[in-house]
Amino acid sequence: MDAAAAESGLYYGTNSSRGGLRLAIGLIRSLCFAAETTGGAGQPLSMDDAVLNSPADALLDVRGLSLRFRGVRALSEVGFQVPRGAIFSIIGPNGAGKTSVLNCISGRYRPHEGRIVFDGRDITARLPRDRAGLGIGRTFQNLALFGHMTVLENILVGRHHLIRNNFLNGPLYWIGGARREELQHRRAVEDVIDLLEIQHVRHAVAASLPYGLRKRVELARAVALRPKLLLLDEPMAGMNFEEKEDMARYVIDLNQEWGITVIMIEHDMGVVMDISHEVMVLDFGSRIAGGSPQEVLADERVRAAYLGQVTEAGAVAAPGAGGDPAGRAGTGAP
Ligand SMILES: Nc1ncnc2c1ncn2[C@@H]1O[C@H](COP(=O)(O)OP(=O)(O)OP(=O)(O)O)[C@@H](O)[C@H]1O
Ligand SMILES: [Mg+2]
Repeated sequence: MDAAAAESGLYYGTNSSRGGLRLAIGLIRSLCFAAETTGGAGQPLSMDDAVLNSPADALLDVRGLSLRFRGVRALSEVGFQVPRGAIFSIIGPNGAGKTSVLNCISGRYRPHEGRIVFDGRDITARLPRDRAGLGIGRTFQNLALFGHMTVLENILVGRHHLIRNNFLNGPLYWIGGARREELQHRRAVEDVIDLLEIQHVRHAVAASLPYGLRKRVELARAVALRPKLLLLDEPMAGMNFEEKEDMARYVIDLNQEWGITVIMIEHDMGVVMDISHEVMVLDFGSRIAGGSPQEVLADERVRAAYLGQVTEAGAVAAPGAGGDPAGRAGTGAP
């Protein structure tokens, strides 16, 4: 929960009675931040933000990412580029380092080596909340919703970093623009609710919902941030066939209709092969292959390390993948 709050830019808690204090601290921090000119969108860039020579169409450029936990090498010099507008999937056996890559991108983990350039800016040293402000949204492998809050409230949390009114002009609700702003946020949230078809549960308490719907609400909260880049950590884990089909369709809609670039970790090879533009394969913390779904499927190392033997019928086996039985041929998703 703390991680979810931090990575959605909510750093000082959600209790509205502490809102004034939170905003006061935020204002002071913003002033300090502006003085350091290391800031977010629209602010002058420091030397740390120096633009690297990323391919022009790469929204994300990751180079030489290494991460260790005591003796465990979670990531070893992982590098890849995510083209703007792509659905980019990361696959690999359990413990391969997939979530660690997302955590480095979202700022939850600080890599020991390597650089992460997002939309032309070096974000390697940025705080999670700054990354959210720059347009990186995410969902978690283990659901991270505010269980006691309603669906609507959970999704509104996703827009926290976009709220401009503060404790100075907020009290002038009718004339200070706060009301207008609140309406804007509510309209934006309603768009997300419509797209993800969760109108019928908007006032339900999040913890009371079945698992598949909670996953969808978590996706809604990430999308409410209006991200340029959406990080999805096993969005379909634990879902039945129909729920997976729905989720695959939502991911495609977000990508095609809302123009959101997606990085998705998923164990269901049918879904991955159906909807991904590019796939990267990790094994023991290293990138062992990458390319189009067809290229990855044809890669001998991938077959050996992850997919197992390909049967005559073309189905694949994914020993140790931890998600779905591999042999599934597809979701039927568009
Ligand atoms: N916070 C942590 N503390 C210690 N070790 C960690 C931590 N996070 C990840 N690791 C280790 O790093 C390695 C990669 O873990 P990671 O969670 O990234 O794998 P994964 O590919 O997402 O696996 P899964 O498919 O099971 O989710 C594993 O050996 C894991 O135990
Ligand atoms: Mg994981």
